[in-house]
Amino acid sequence: MWKIGDVEIDNRVVLAPMAGVCNSAFRLTVKEFGAGLVCAEMVSDKAILFNNPKTMNMLYIDENERPLSLQIFGGEKESLVEAAVYVDQNTTADIIDINMGCPVNKIIRCEAGARWLLDPNKIYEMVSAVTEKVSKPVTCKMRIGWDEDHIYAVENAKAAERAGAAAISLHGRTRVQMYEGHADWDIIRQVKEAVNIPVIGNGDVTSPELAQKMLDETGVDAVMIGREALGNPWMIYRTVHYLETGELMDEPTVKEKVEIALLHLRRLVELKGEKIGVMEMRKHASWYLKGVKGNGKARKALNQANTEQEMIDILQNFQAESTAATATQQA
Ligand SMILES: Cc1cc2nc3c(=O)[nH]c(=O)nc-3n(C[C@H](O)[C@H](O)[C@H](O)COP(=O)(O)O)c2cc1C
Repeated sequence: MWKIGDVEIDNRVVLAPMAGVCNSAFRLTVKEFGAGLVCAEMVSDKAILFNNPKTMNMLYIDENERPLSLQIFGGEKESLVEAAVYVDQNTTADIIDINMGCPVNKIIRCEAGARWLLDPNKIYEMVSAVTEKVSKPVTCKMRIGWDEDHIYAVENAKAAERAGAAAISLHGRTRVQMYEGHADWDIIRQVKEAVNIPVIGNGDVTSPELAQKMLDETGVDAVMIGREALGNPWMIYRTVHYLETGELMDEPTVKEKVEIALLHLRRLVELKGEKIGVMEMRKHASWYLKGVKGNGKARKALNQANTEQEMIDILQNFQAESTAATATQQA
């Protein structure tokens, strides 16, 4: 067990915040697969303040997902602080996370996200303005720098710590790298050595063994897993188990994948209604079937499905066909 501020976290595996993915339906499912901490998708400070209905729905948290970290982004101090105060006083989030890693132009243009990585003073100013006004622990999620000539990870992390941040999550890529190339774990190690608050290492943890390797090589307090968990909450479960026992569990069967995809679908539809839930489930369903032999036809059909029942039928038929094909091969 370790802590962010006074929030107790049971293990060293954290689900990364992912826009368009980490809503309550997915987070709850990943939580049930053992994540120590789940992070919600980023929410715009201004959209919170404008009371945007879609944004307000993004603040929904199920009690069973907690502890949960809710991420906000923004470029101006006043609105960022106001949004943080709103989250502090009106949600059951355990932690308020500030995004300073998003590489997308639309966000950078608003002086938000990874833009801050060029200026430790701005990080200090913004984070201290937030920590002064809220009671929940505040954390920062950063990348290591803007580009390879501007890597201020240590200075930025120290600025956040001085400003009262309770932990840092560090993605080992620069803004310019986007999601390409390798995550630099050595810089993650340097940051861990430079600060006294917990550091969560992130980037390229694509197997339970790599999670252990990151912990060993960098000394971070926990690993954060993003893309590998898409359609694959077993990654979380298998990593938690591996870190605790050194034992590598089997990959899920097709039956298990379909079962969880159906659960995820039901939760998304409950959360967002059938139309949007099914639309959003298209990409998840495709991820659940990734790598499964003979998935082409089912993935294509899932991508065009419009109703919950259509999706259920496609997934169940795929499972039946896949099981029959395996039985024939084994006979
Ligand atoms: C679809 C997607 C959406 C993301 N959205 C966010 C976000 O809202 N906030 C954030 O801090 N990072 C976001 N990220 C970055 C991830 O949290 C993580 O830092 C990155 O994917 C690297 O980790 P990984 O190698 O385990 O995927 C997103 C990544 C992906 C793939």
